[in-house]
Amino acid sequence: MTDKAKQDRVLIFDTTLRDGEQSPGATMTHDEKLEIAALLDEMGVDIIEAGFPIASEGDFDAVTAIAKQTQNSVICGLARANFKDIDRCWEAVRHARRPRIHTFIGTSPLHRAIPNLDMDQMAERIHETVTHARNLCDNVQWSPMDATRTEHDYLCRVIEIAIKAGATTINIPDTVGYTAPRESADLIRMLIERVPGADEVVFATHCHNDLGMATANALAAVEAGARQIECTVNGLGERAGNTALEEVVMAMKVRNDIMPYRTGIDTTKIMNISRRVAAVSGFPVQYNKAIVGKNAFAHESGIHQDGMLKNAQTFEIMRPEDVGLSATNLVMGKHSGRAALRAKLKDLGYDLADNQLNDVFVRFKALADRKKEVYDDDLVALMTDSTANVAGDHLQVKFLRVICGTEAPQSADLTLTIDGVDHQVTATGDGPVDATFNAVKRLFPHDARLALYQVHAVTEGTDAQATVSVRLEEDGKIVTGQSADTDTVVASAKAYVSALNNLIVRREKTKPADEMKSVS
Ligand code: KIV
Ligand code: ZN
Repeated sequence: MTDKAKQDRVLIFDTTLRDGEQSPGATMTHDEKLEIAALLDEMGVDIIEAGFPIASEGDFDAVTAIAKQTQNSVICGLARANFKDIDRCWEAVRHARRPRIHTFIGTSPLHRAIPNLDMDQMAERIHETVTHARNLCDNVQWSPMDATRTEHDYLCRVIEIAIKAGATTINIPDTVGYTAPRESADLIRMLIERVPGADEVVFATHCHNDLGMATANALAAVEAGARQIECTVNGLGERAGNTALEEVVMAMKVRNDIMPYRTGIDTTKIMNISRRVAAVSGFPVQYNKAIVGKNAFAHESGIHQDGMLKNAQTFEIMRPEDVGLSATNLVMGKHSGRAALRAKLKDLGYDLADNQLNDVFVRFKALADRKKEVYDDDLVALMTDSTANVAGDHLQVKFLRVICGTEAPQSADLTLTIDGVDHQVTATGDGPVDATFNAVKRLFPHDARLALYQVHAVTEGTDAQATVSVRLEEDGKIVTGQSADTDTVVASAKAYVSALNNLIVRREKTKPADEMKSVS
C-alpha cells in the first residue's frame, strides 16, 4: 500500500447535486441546490460535486453560485473529455476557495465504441484533456467511466497517462453497479500496486447500486486503499442510486473496530440533510432505509420494546442522537406559540427567517386546529408543503370541493388561479382524485403523462396528514410535485399542480445539451 492509502482519513465526496440530481424527476431549483450545498459544507463534506456546468445554463449558474458561497468544501464540477466542457467547468468552479475539475471518459469496450475511438486514440484524448484541465486548475480528478468493465491492462495504461498528465485524484466508477465487494477491493489493490505514480494520487470509489451492493463495494474499496468515497445523500441517483453518504459514514463510525477509518462528517447533521434532500428532490426515503428511514429507530415488537426500555443497546447499534434524530418527540398543539414552533423547527433543521416563520405559523395553526397533536413528522410534511402553492407559481389551487361516495360519478369543483386569474370548472372521474385531476387538466390542458401518484400517511390516526407525490413525464422529461394535507384529495390537487409548475419552469429553461445529462 502507498503512504496515501495507509492513512486512516477517508475523504467524503458528495455528488447529490450532480449524480443524484440526474435521477429522473429529482431536478432541484437553483435555490434548493444552494441550500443543499450549504448543508453539505456545514456537515463537513470534503468535496461537493456541484453540477455539470456545460449541461445547461441552470447547471452553470448553480455551480458558480455554490463555488462563491462555499466556505470549506472543495467545489468540483463535471466535464467530459473535451476542451469546451473543461473550460466551461473551470469558468464555474474557479470562484471557489478550493476548486476542482472532474473530467471523465468511458473506457470499457462498450463505452469506447460510442465516440468511436480506438485504444490509442482514447489514450491520446485522455492525455490532452487532463493536461488541459491541469493547466487551469491544480486539483484535477479523472474518471475512467465503467472502470469495472474495462480491461485491466488498458485501465492501468490510461490511469498512468492521467497521472502523468497531472490528475491528483483517480476515481474508479462502477457505473452500472456491476461489481461485488471482493472484486471491488481486488481492483483497487491491483491498480495501486501496478500503476506507476499511484502513490502520488488519491484513489476514489464511485459505486452505483444496481445490485444493492454500492455501500459494501465502496467500503471494500476503502479497505484496499481507496481514500475517497463518492456518495449521495439518501443514496439518490439514477436507476437504483449511488452509495448512500449516511451509510458509509455511519458504518465506519459504528464498526470502527473492523473499519478503522475516520471522516470529517458531523453525523448529527445527517437526519436534517436527509429530510431536506427528500423534500427538494421529491424522492421520499423508504421507511426501512438504513440510518435515515422512518423505521430505522422504531421498535414495534413487544420483545424489542421491552429490551429497549431496559437497555437501548439491546436492539440499537447507534443512538438516534448520533444521526441528529431528537430523542424526544415533543408534541406541539394549538396552544403552542411562535417561539416554540421556531425552536422545534430549528431542532428539525429548519432555520427560518421571520417572514417565513409567519407563513409557516399560520399554516401550523390551521393544522393544529384540525389535528389534536402535531408531531415532528407533521412539521416536516408542513415544511415540504411550503414549496407547493406559493405566491409566484403560475398555477395555484384556490378552491376545491369533491363529491364522492358509493354513487358514481364522483365530481370535483375546482378553482385554479392561473397567472393571477381565477378559472373554475366541474369535472367527473373514477373516484375523487381522478375527478380532481381531470378538472386540473380541463383548466390547464397538457399532454404530460402521470408517471407516479403516491400517498403516504405521515403519522398514525384517521386525522393524519397525507403526503402526496406526483411525477409527470413530458417528452422524456420528468418533474415531480409534493404536498401534504389532512385532506388527501387537497394534497393530491396541490401536488399535481406543483408538478405542473415545475413542468412550466422546466419548459422555460433552455437546455442546449440536455442529452448530456445521461452520465451516471
Ligand atoms: O457513474 C459514473 O461513471 C459517473 C462518472 C461521471 C464518474 O458518474
Ligand atoms: Zn455515477
